[in-house]
Amino acid sequence: MNILALESSCDDTCAAVIGADGHIRSNLISSQGAHDRFGGVVPEIASRQHLELVNLIVAQACSEAGVTLDEVGLVAATQGPGLVGALLVGLCTAKALAAGRELPFAPVDHLQGHVAANFLGDSFEPPFLCLIASGGHTLLVHVKEHEGYVVLGRTLDDAAGEAFDKVARVLGLPFPGGPHIDRVALEGNRELVAFPRGKSDDGSLDFSFSGLKTAVARWVEARERAGELVPIAHVAASFQEAVVDVLTMKAIAACQAHGVDYLVIGGGVAANSRLRAVAEQRCEAAGITLRVPRPGLCTDNGAMVAALGTRLVEAGLPPSELDFPADPSLPITEVKV
Ligand code: KG4
Ligand code: ZN
Repeated sequence: MNILALESSCDDTCAAVIGADGHIRSNLISSQGAHDRFGGVVPEIASRQHLELVNLIVAQACSEAGVTLDEVGLVAATQGPGLVGALLVGLCTAKALAAGRELPFAPVDHLQGHVAANFLGDSFEPPFLCLIASGGHTLLVHVKEHEGYVVLGRTLDDAAGEAFDKVARVLGLPFPGGPHIDRVALEGNRELVAFPRGKSDDGSLDFSFSGLKTAVARWVEARERAGELVPIAHVAASFQEAVVDVLTMKAIAACQAHGVDYLVIGGGVAANSRLRAVAEQRCEAAGITLRVPRPGLCTDNGAMVAALGTRLVEAGLPPSELDFPADPSLPITEVKV
């Protein structure tokens, strides 16, 4: 049985087809360049672009996978969290496909989808600790069993990806800023500025990135006021180090506090090369097994939605009725896995 999955929670229109064994047959992502000049996602533009792209992307995903809709046995789509207008486009398209073809339907939690990207074609066995870091969320969750995710910590203000995007803007780098900071930082000195590590010594598992973002902006403004050249690579590397330091430190502290020796990372920020390297070093030193999807599966995509859809079916959950709404603030613990 093939699974067709749609993801449209933010500005990427995504469709994927995966086989019953988890093999990715196609995974198409259309990123909307329309937001670049605004320096952030404009919800109304995102919805309209999804509408224009969604049928095309679904058709391309099927054709690239070499399957017709007759060969699809399950449809999955992101129910939330995300931008409501954007979610509605993918969700309604997927529901219409399921209704028209009388196919079972699996609604998917976007954040759990980021976790499931780690388990494509592989067993999905708790317990593990999970760090989810994306443009909209930063969470530490304990997945004790398939029945639910327990949130141990979360950001109290900006998400990690949001901090990357805002700092990139201060440095004059394009949106979304994460990949640009990652690239520019390769040439920078990460120890040039010791930017603040929010909430790093309060013993909690929560995060705070807005003070860091402001500290970078003030540092850059001071250089500009003095008529000095801003060393973009060094600032990017020093900022990135502060984010990576606190994310990895808290993830490992969470594992140790809860007696878990298995850490899973997901979400767009998990594509960050420095985060991957530091997480690997620190997990190895702490005797923790680390799992991170390949970079292309960290940012939003349809395969991660399909992965969780498969898992829901394997768990024997009955296919969903189609009369439920998109949920822009779907809380992660409410969806049973
Ligand atoms: O998971 P995602 O694709 O969308 C949301 O669910 O939000 O995450 C997008 C976020 C953006 O803030 C983007 O700047 C960040 O992930 N991101 C990165 C990298 N690639 C994407 N941040 C740091 N380094 C990267 N290489
Ligand atoms: Zn995401």
